[in-house]
Amino acid sequence: MKHLLSTGSLSHKQAVRILDTAGQMAATQAREIKKLPTLRGRTVVNLFFEDSTRTRISFETAAKRLSADVINFSAKGSSVSKGESLKDTALTLQAMGADAVVIRHHASGAPHTLAHSGWTHGAVINAGDGTHQHPTQALLDAFTLRRHLSGPGDVTGRDLAGLRVAIVGDVLHSRVARSNVQLLHTLGADVTLVAPPTLLPVGVDAWPAAVSYHLDEVIDTKPDAIMMLRVQRERMSSAGGGFFPSPLEYTRGYGLDARRLAAMPEHAIVLHPGPMNRGLEISADAADSPRAVIVEQVANGVAVRMAVLYLLLAGSEGTQDETRHDQT
Ligand code: CP
Repeated sequence: MKHLLSTGSLSHKQAVRILDTAGQMAATQAREIKKLPTLRGRTVVNLFFEDSTRTRISFETAAKRLSADVINFSAKGSSVSKGESLKDTALTLQAMGADAVVIRHHASGAPHTLAHSGWTHGAVINAGDGTHQHPTQALLDAFTLRRHLSGPGDVTGRDLAGLRVAIVGDVLHSRVARSNVQLLHTLGADVTLVAPPTLLPVGVDAWPAAVSYHLDEVIDTKPDAIMMLRVQRERMSSAGGGFFPSPLEYTRGYGLDARRLAAMPEHAIVLHPGPMNRGLEISADAADSPRAVIVEQVANGVAVRMAVLYLLLAGSEGTQDETRHDQT
């Protein structure tokens, strides 16, 4: 595996290998072995053209815990504001010796372009591109689901077969939803997308997921997990009337609140990739409930990103043959 661009490119075996490796990384952290020497002398560049709190800090933490050198690049305050292109930015960073480039970009496909351009010789990891993909988010979500399904013991080798997951909200603009649908399908889970018709993409019927417009009906089917999506108002066109339904209607129809939380099965958990719009897609009492694993998702993200960096830069033997076409 040379790059990680999309969950759709991961085989079942590759996905499970990343999750198992993340379990081992989490175990070292739990034993207070904060720093591993694995990537000493390697350089990881965080190339962020779009804002981020969790993903950028998580990749930086993961790289440092593997003893890599980290260069953080943010488009804000850089020569991108003077018109410098992705190509010239990438060539500049390559000249400084990047072994891996973690890229977040507002344009869907930018990581793919970087990986196939020759502008960098390093591994390219997609940290979120437009509305397209956010593979490490989906991997950390799967890791979190796996931990909660299996209890605190060894979860190595288990997948999510038969797990029922509802993904709720602004599917139209969500790279998290796209990555999760593909990965959860690969891991054997049953996914239902729940959204108003205006926030579902054209062609969603072809996705490997059921679709519903009614959150209360889906909660009545007793899902094992509900993954709430952020309403991405910044991606909604003001020319098209913006956000429909209205925020109030949206919250009534699709917001997770105490009443809906109480209707969920006792074992079911609540996920959200963050950042949250409290009071819009999730109420404060739902977000802060003991069934919400949102902060744990952030912690798990470090272990998952350590695993991805490790497998791409130091330990990918045995996965090369299974690497599908668009990863190389
Ligand atoms: N979940 C996520 O991608 O959060 P950030 O935008 O803060 O990185």
